[in-house]
Formats: sequence, C-alpha cells, structure tokens
Amino acid sequence: MDKLLVLGGAPLQGEVAISGAKNAALPILAASLLASHPVTIGNVPRLNDITTMLALLGDMGVHHSFDGKTVTIDASDIRRPLASYELVRTMRASILVLGPLLARFGQAVVSLPGGCAIGARPVDLHLKGLTAMGATIKVEKGYIHASASRLHGCRLVLDQVTVTGTENLLMAATLAQGRTIIENAAREPEVSDLAHFLVALGARIDGIGTDVLEVEGVRALNNAGNARDYQVLPDRIETGTYLTAAALTGGCIRTTCTRPELLDAVLAKLREAGAAITTGDHWIELSMPRRPKAVSFHTAPHPAFPTDMQAQLMALNTIAEGVGIITETIFENRFMHVLELRRLGAQIAVEGNTAVCTGVERLNGAPVMATDLRASASLVLAALAAEGETVIDRIYHIDRGYEQIETKFSQLGAEIRRIC
Ligand code: UD1
Repeated sequence: MDKLLVLGGAPLQGEVAISGAKNAALPILAASLLASHPVTIGNVPRLNDITTMLALLGDMGVHHSFDGKTVTIDASDIRRPLASYELVRTMRASILVLGPLLARFGQAVVSLPGGCAIGARPVDLHLKGLTAMGATIKVEKGYIHASASRLHGCRLVLDQVTVTGTENLLMAATLAQGRTIIENAAREPEVSDLAHFLVALGARIDGIGTDVLEVEGVRALNNAGNARDYQVLPDRIETGTYLTAAALTGGCIRTTCTRPELLDAVLAKLREAGAAITTGDHWIELSMPRRPKAVSFHTAPHPAFPTDMQAQLMALNTIAEGVGIITETIFENRFMHVLELRRLGAQIAVEGNTAVCTGVERLNGAPVMATDLRASASLVLAALAAEGETVIDRIYHIDRGYEQIETKFSQLGAEIRRIC
C-alpha cells in the first residue's frame, strides 16, 4: 500500500496550478447520462473518484474516453441502469446516477451507499424528493429500486441542506413534466457548476447560485453541441489546502487556474491567522510572515466555512499562537484527524462536535494513518510543518481527491515522496 514520506520544515515557495473540482466533475459526469448526444467535458481532474465514476458509467454501457484532462461521454445507449455495490461502496458520490437514470430511462437500481468514516450520511432526502416527483422507490437487499413512467414537477422543501441531494433532484427535474421548485437548495459552487452544465445541454433552470432552484422540465436534453468543451470549475478545496500549507510552513505561494471568489470564508480565516493575501482573476497569492494566530470557526453550508477545509485549518491551529475552537456542524464524526495530529504533538481536546486546539511551538514527525480524504490532507500539512520525518499510511484516501499531490508539493519545495 502506498505511503507518503514527508520531511518537514521547509517553507513552501513558488506556484502551483489548481485542478478541476472533483465535487463538480462527479455530478457533471453523472449528468451526462441525461444527454441524448455525446458530450465533452474539460478540466476534469485525474483522480481515483473520477476513474470510479467512469467505471460506473462504463458498466452501464456508456462509451467514454479520458485523456487525463478531457472526458468524452456518449450515453445514447444504456445497457442496464444499474450501479452495483462493488463500485458504489468505494465512492458515495455514485448515488448521483440515481436522479439522471430515473429521469431519462424511467428506472434505476442503485446500491445504497451505506455509512462512511465521517458519519452515517443517509440518502433519505434524495429518495423523499424523487418520491414526491412521482417515483416508486423500494429498498431491497441493500439496493434502491426506483421507477417512474415520467417524473412530474413539484415543490420540494429540503429538510436539510444537502449537496448531492440537491444535485440529484436538480438533474431529475430537468426531464420531469412541468415545474419543479427546490427550496433550501445547497448553494455550493459545485451545484451551480452542475446547473450551468445542464443549461448548456438545454435544461431550463432559474435561481442558479441561490437556495431556490426552479426547473422547467423539457422532453430531452439534446443541445450537447453547446456543452462541447464545458470546463469544470477549479477546485476550491484543493486551492485552500495549498494556501493553508503555505501558511503552516511560513511560506509564500501563488495558486493559479483558480477563482478567489469561491473561497471567501477560507481566505477570511487565513487573513485572521495573519496571512497576507492578494488575488487576481485566476490566482491567489499567500505569504505568512509570522507564526500564525489560532482561528475559531464553525462549519456550515456555503457560503459559510466549508467542512471540507475544517481538518486543514485545524492543522494550522496546531502550531499557531493561542487557542482555536472549531465546531463541526455538518458531519457527526469528522474529527478523526485529531488522534493522528496528536501523534505529531498537537494539543487538541474534543468535546462533542467541538475541538479546542492549543497551539504548540513545534510538531515532531511520526508515523500516522490517513482515515478519510480531508483528514489525510491535514496530516500532510502538519507533516510539512513538523520537525523530522513523517510517514503517512493509507494514502489511497488522498488519491481520491488530490491530483498528483506529491508532485505539486515538490514543485513548491517540499520534501515529499511516495513510497511502497
Ligand atoms: C458533499 C460533498 C462533500 C462535502 C459535503 C458537505 C460531494 C461529492 N461531496 O457530500 O465533499 O463534505 O457535501 O459540504 O459533493 N443528509 C441527510 N440526508 C440526506 C442527505 C444528507 O441527513 O438525504 C445529511 C448528511 O448526513 C450530512 C448533511 O446532510 O450531515 C450534509 O450532507 P450532504 O450535503 O448531503 O453531503 P454530500 O452531498 O454527501
């Protein structure tokens, strides 16, 4: 099993190009199931989760090719609308094929994703919404069996803000009969990117970027020509991860191919920690001339502070001046990095969904274990700032969401390499 070996201590310097957003590319690939003609999607990151989504689509009979940046997909001919447990269990986002399959083919059999390390993560709101749109849904032997002759539009008020839930219902609504209104919709930029892609395909959607999405269903999405060369938006979490790494190591870096306005809440916290940040249309530069100050925040749906950056900012707090208090409000078990950060010398107390971190002067390298995607990123960041050598095990979690992480950090002057 691959591991990362990190020799900490060097301040990061230089420039790093940000990849396309995993969490936008995944729903967009699933949405290609709605298109009656081949589509071409650019700026797709080369990640294990993308490979899994393409394998899932391929298993259904979808033809596709991926050159490492651009995906071409032809979903005109589906053999079987089935997402099997073998693929779904490795990636929860597989549930995103449910809405498109049901809307276009009138049936879908999708494995229940089950729980995962960071929490139970049910899909009840996806199923409730589709049922309200006229689907018949049964859950049997671990599989969701959904059918509908044609979904119909209706008003949906989501009990809780859910990103993939909003995306599934949005995709389903594009081909439903009549108007669907999704209230309390997620406003994450990745939801908007999906909506823009759907509009390019011919969907009629109002309210993009707000928490009320209104969709006028159409018979077919056959404007694939307009969606040719659709570019996935930059990954705001990858951007924030590299910037936070620079802040931890007292470095100065520029992230390029990104969009500063996607990261307002994160940049505000990094500034509060003492970082000097300048931005242009497609770049962000950060330098940290001093020991960081600890920051406090709670995670919440966009535009508030993203749960996917919580672990990385906690890594920053471990070596900061003062005490930072972090409250996780989205997932019930998203502090697994705490135990591993403590192995590096961090002082963190956890009470329920709140972690209180008292910054120490320095961390010391140690063997640690990655437990989930963003927790793994926080370990890499802490290791880069720690004195001595850290070996991070189980980095397949990192490969799910960070493209060429060791290459990009090496370009920034870090001593990091992959070992077996
Ligand atoms: C997505 C992101 C993930 C991010 C998360 C929150 C993708 C592929 N993944 O995950 O990186 O951390 O948003 O920003 O985009 N919930 C229910 N019932 C449901 C659906 C959700 O109770 O039917 C709960 C979840 O358990 C969680 C909260 O709602 O507590 C938010 O989850 P959700 O936004 O759905 O997360 P994902 O879409 O799975």
